[in-house]
Amino acid sequence: MNILRLIFSPTGGTQRAADDLCAPWAAQGLSRRDVDLTDPDGSFDPLPLGDAEGVLIAIPSYGGRVPALAVQRLAHLQGGGAPCVLLCTYGNRAYDDTLLEMADLAAQQGLNVIAAVAAATEHSIVRRFGAGRPDAQDARELAAYGGDVYPLNLYTRWTRDDYGPVWIPAKGATITLTEDNLPIYSRCIEAYEGNTLEQREDGIYINGQKTDTYTFRMDYYWMMGDNRHNSLDSRYWGFVPEDHVVGKPLVVWLSLDKDRGWLDGKIRWSRLFKWVG
Ligand SMILES: Cc1cc2nc3c(=O)[nH]c(=O)nc-3n(C[C@H](O)[C@H](O)[C@H](O)COP(=O)(O)O)c2cc1C
Repeated sequence: MNILRLIFSPTGGTQRAADDLCAPWAAQGLSRRDVDLTDPDGSFDPLPLGDAEGVLIAIPSYGGRVPALAVQRLAHLQGGGAPCVLLCTYGNRAYDDTLLEMADLAAQQGLNVIAAVAAATEHSIVRRFGAGRPDAQDARELAAYGGDVYPLNLYTRWTRDDYGPVWIPAKGATITLTEDNLPIYSRCIEAYEGNTLEQREDGIYINGQKTDTYTFRMDYYWMMGDNRHNSLDSRYWGFVPEDHVVGKPLVVWLSLDKDRGWLDGKIRWSRLFKWVG
């Protein structure tokens, strides 16, 4: 999936916030093309989607509104119903109507707004407001928001708490490909098994051949942490192919119960030195 990022960032804060937000997207197999909405030499009439299937618009708040130049340039966007994520940055004063105005602009240009986020960034005039932001904590929060489960929530609406059901690909197994399951399995087919995959008007093409089935060449694993609100796992980056597994556990040499004290059963003696089969 390709994402078109339309970024207005005269002093770099919005660009950094956009990069933080999109950081998990690359891991989900999304590629992106950036358009600098501040470019004095840029040509914005028309502003076509090209081969993009989704759009991110990232713009700072100026006086609680969308900067006039951004409004002017976005008016040439040809959205074609593509899903769109909005990112509004602001110098930690207030973003007032900026995000609403962005949503209206996006809708007017034929985009389908599916998510919107406002992020505090260093104030480009009064630097002490929001100094140093986005900081490491902002980056984590933006990445968590942007990476809100695999595949990106556009199709499945799965959340980190309510995920699936999902079928895990197995070596030799054949599935029927549909528009609904393609986002889930396209990364296995393209990135891990090295095929080209295209969705054309008349159907799905793998390595240039029209098909509606695919037979997997590898086994895949679903990696899941037991602390589900604090675990970056397959819910975020999808299936792990067998050739990415670098080892397997042999033995449990220590097992601690984090909820108990050292003299109150913290060490789970019964688990120590057990072979993991
Ligand atoms: C002309 C102008 C007006 C601004 N108005 C606001 C505002 O109303 N509220 C706010 O919180 N920040 C305001 N800011 C701060 C910017 O929204 C903020 O610094 C943003 O991160 C700048 O983005 P950039 O670093 O990508 O250029 C304003 C900045 C400028 C230059």
